[in-house]
Amino acid sequence: MKQYSIACVPGDGVGTEVIDAGKQVLLAVQEAHGGFRLHFDDYPWGCEYYLQHGEMMPKDGIKVLADHEAIYLGAVGYPTVPDHVSLWGLLIPIRQGFDQYVNLRPVKLFPGVPCPLKDKGPEDIDILCIRENTEGEYAGVGGRFHPGTPEETVLQTSVFTRRGVERVMRYAFEQAMRRPRKELVSATKSNALNYSMVFWDEVFWELAKEYPEVQASQWHTDALAAHFVRRPESFSVVVASNLFGDILTDLGGALQGSLGIPAGGNINPEKRYPSMFEPVHGSAPKYAGKGIANPMAAIWAGAMMIEFLGEKEAADRVMDAMMAVTAERKVLPRDLGGSATTARVAEEIAAKIRAAA
Ligand code: NAD
Ligand code: IPM
Ligand code: MN
Repeated sequence: MKQYSIACVPGDGVGTEVIDAGKQVLLAVQEAHGGFRLHFDDYPWGCEYYLQHGEMMPKDGIKVLADHEAIYLGAVGYPTVPDHVSLWGLLIPIRQGFDQYVNLRPVKLFPGVPCPLKDKGPEDIDILCIRENTEGEYAGVGGRFHPGTPEETVLQTSVFTRRGVERVMRYAFEQAMRRPRKELVSATKSNALNYSMVFWDEVFWELAKEYPEVQASQWHTDALAAHFVRRPESFSVVVASNLFGDILTDLGGALQGSLGIPAGGNINPEKRYPSMFEPVHGSAPKYAGKGIANPMAAIWAGAMMIEFLGEKEAADRVMDAMMAVTAERKVLPRDLGGSATTARVAEEIAAKIRAAA
């Protein structure tokens, strides 16, 4: 039987609750499917760990994670630790350290989930967002001098490399080739960012020549955001830089009815390093410890993870079960208008998986 070793980093806030729920569903599909086994190793890293040890993960954390086939992450960040410390101590080092240069974030409206947009249904909202995940605005390059003086000066520099831009765009063109509508939209802002985004556009149009079957176009990201709201059905695949992709995918979460739903994969396509799967949402501190967070984003992340490992059929079972639960509208978490707890929602999805088997 195929065995997969998964590093589990539940992290902070609702992260621990939704990852528990996600594991429960993954174990249910493993049981029902019968063809593979997941081995979870849990690492209690995050803000509490930081308060005890002065670091978000141990010094050899990346080495420890490298021994696994995938990483299942909840959320990082809590009000007890400044966000730039926590995120630069755990999440971003994994994305960069494992060269997870593709952040794959599907935006899909599930059946039964009310869309905040008037007259839009699941057939209108199905966008694959592909976010550059290792450089750009998140390169972490910059500095601060004369701190605390009137001369205080701060630089935060974006870094766009030909290799970095080309590889994520190539991935996006390949994804566009596989969709019924072979279309790819690039999120730019080359009217204002006269170096980085002009370069981004040049690389995009160079690559577009290699994919004549793909209908390529570019949109300034501000206008693109408005269009996501007005005509989401006009998008199939979107490729964006690190920061623009971050913002567009929270907007995507809103289009899906709640941030409790969308998930993403931080992918190293060549599989030289483990890839990491997580909800798009964060630790939602105001819901933490209450058992009311929506576990669907974490469950979807789990489905993406097993699909990436090669278990597509099992991943489909998870997605079918989750959509059956939203379509039925009987057991829904609070953010979707119901009153079910995190655990209850997971149990219902697991029950649907068992019933379908
Ligand atoms: P957030 O995503 O944690 O929460 C924003 C809002 O979204 C919440 O108030 C809630 O209304 C809703 N929400 C989020 N998750 C939900 C769920 N599972 N069920 C129901 N509703 C949900 O964003 P934030 O408040 O900006 O950030 C909180 C902390 O999380 C910060 O420290 C931030 O840096 C961190 N963060 C981490 C990640 C990550 O680990 N990938 C992502 C985003 C934010
Ligand atoms: C996300 C988050 C992170 C990001 C933060 C917490 C650093 O918002 O995963 O979308 O901006 O990438
Ligand atoms: Mn984000």
